[in-house]
Formats: sequence, C-alpha cells, structure tokens
Amino acid sequence: MHLTSLLNAASLLVAGCFILPFSVADVAVRPIPSIPALGNLHDLAGLSELPPAVCPTVRSCQPTAVLHRCCSPVNGRLVLAQQWTPKLGRADQFTIHGLWPNTCTDGMTGKHGCDAKRNYPKIGEIIQKADPMLFNHMQMSWPSDRGDSPAFWQHEWEKHGTCLSTVEPACQKNAAPYSDVVSYFRMVLGLHRTYDVYAALKTAGIVPNGTYKRADMEMALNKAWNVRAILRCSGRRLKEVRLWFHMQGTDQFVPTSPLHASSSCGESVEYPAK
Ligand SMILES: *[C@@H]1O[C@H](CO)[C@@H](O)[C@H](O)[C@H]1NC(C)=O
Repeated sequence: MHLTSLLNAASLLVAGCFILPFSVADVAVRPIPSIPALGNLHDLAGLSELPPAVCPTVRSCQPTAVLHRCCSPVNGRLVLAQQWTPKLGRADQFTIHGLWPNTCTDGMTGKHGCDAKRNYPKIGEIIQKADPMLFNHMQMSWPSDRGDSPAFWQHEWEKHGTCLSTVEPACQKNAAPYSDVVSYFRMVLGLHRTYDVYAALKTAGIVPNGTYKRADMEMALNKAWNVRAILRCSGRRLKEVRLWFHMQGTDQFVPTSPLHASSSCGESVEYPAK
C-alpha cells in the first residue's frame, strides 16, 4: 500500500509538473528533475519501511515538518468526544464516546475506518485479556447507552482506532498481538481522565440539573484549556462535548480549536442531572 501510494504520488508529480508541459523533444534533452520538496511531505515520509529508532517530538500536522507515520499521526487532528447521558456512568463524569483522528484539514476519515485488516473480532475480549484493569476502567468510563459496551468499543476501534497511524503494529518494536488496540484504548482513557469536562464546568459554577447559556458553558471550557470546545445537543439538552488536539510526538496531546465544527445547541442549554 505504501509503495503504491509512493508510485502514485511520484507519477502524479511527474505527470502533473514535468512531462506534460514539455514537448517530447524537450523531455528527451532535459534531465529528469529530482522530486522537489513538497508542501506536504507527510505521506511520502511515511513510506520508509522502518520507523526511526527515536521519534522527534514534533507537533502533528506541521506543514513543514517531515514526519514519519510512526512518529506522528497522519490523521493529526484528534477529536475527543465525551457524552452526557442521564443514567449512564458516574453522576459527576462525562463518559467517553470516542477519540477520532481527523485529517490535518479537520476532515473525518472514512466511515469504514482505515485498515480493514485490523478489524479484529471480539475487541472486548482482547482488552480484557491483555489488560483487565483497562477493561474495568472502560466499563465505567466508556459505557454504551444501548447496553453492549464491547460492541460500542468494537465500532469505535474499527471506524477510528485503525486510523491512528502511530499505534500500527509496524510502528511498535516486537509488537505483541493487538498492542495497537491496547495502546489506542489506554490513550483514550488517559485523555479522558486529563480533560475532565465535568470539573471544568463545575469550576465555573455550571453543574447538572440546570439550564445555562451556551456561551457561558463554552467560556468555561475555553477558560480551562484555552481552546474552543464544541457542544452538541439533542433538542435543548446537552448530549456531548468535543475537544480537539494535536499530538506532540507519539504520546502527548496539545489542545487546539476545531477548524470547521459548530455547535448543534441553541443559545440556552439544559444540563440535566444524571
Ligand atoms: C433538580 O432541581 C429541581 C428543582 O430545582 C429539584 O426539585 C430536583 O430535586 C433536582 N434534582 C436532582 C436530581 O438534583
């Protein structure tokens, strides 16, 4: 797949930039130019077969940086979605919806994820076996409102987890089977613990069982992390809060604002008790 995309990229370059503008005679006498530096070397840089021994801790989606896909996520804007669902999870905690690697232009990756070969069956069992503590935390923090949490995790892994290049098995030395799955879910749990939306709202005096101005809720989240968070509603009710991140290296997250997303809430938002 990598080789194919290199060839595609190279032939596009050649076709687009060099051969077409010249006559056949020109081509015969002109030396074939070397491939020039591109604005986006990200994909090309990911083509070398082995990950570097040490990754530079570069911010994802930096246009000028040469980033290996193992060192920095190709889909380098990550969206952490946290849900507020009455009766689901702790009364003082948003639960996890998912961590979605968006493209660097903040587009969603495909509906069917990024690597069908890694749509492993029985994700719940894989996690339970590899890391029982992680499994327990996920049952608390990442429950499904439809009752089948492992099916929810399965969906999130297939559609989103397979799009995080840095955890691919080829990027991990002596990767144990399913280390990509375990790395992804550990990462999401860690991020959820760090970016505590309930606490950020509470600091601003915004607690459940009340109706608040959307602007005040957004301001509270902006105060906490200095970025624009996106509120999602079902009718007037708060349903979800989304936060965007770049990655710094392979394991640090830096909050950033979304490029396109907008709120689905009105000016006044119900924040129901759980
Ligand atoms: C929510 O607020 C209402 C009225 O302010 C109160 O009667 C009710 O007990 C509260 N419910 C919870 C779960 O705190």
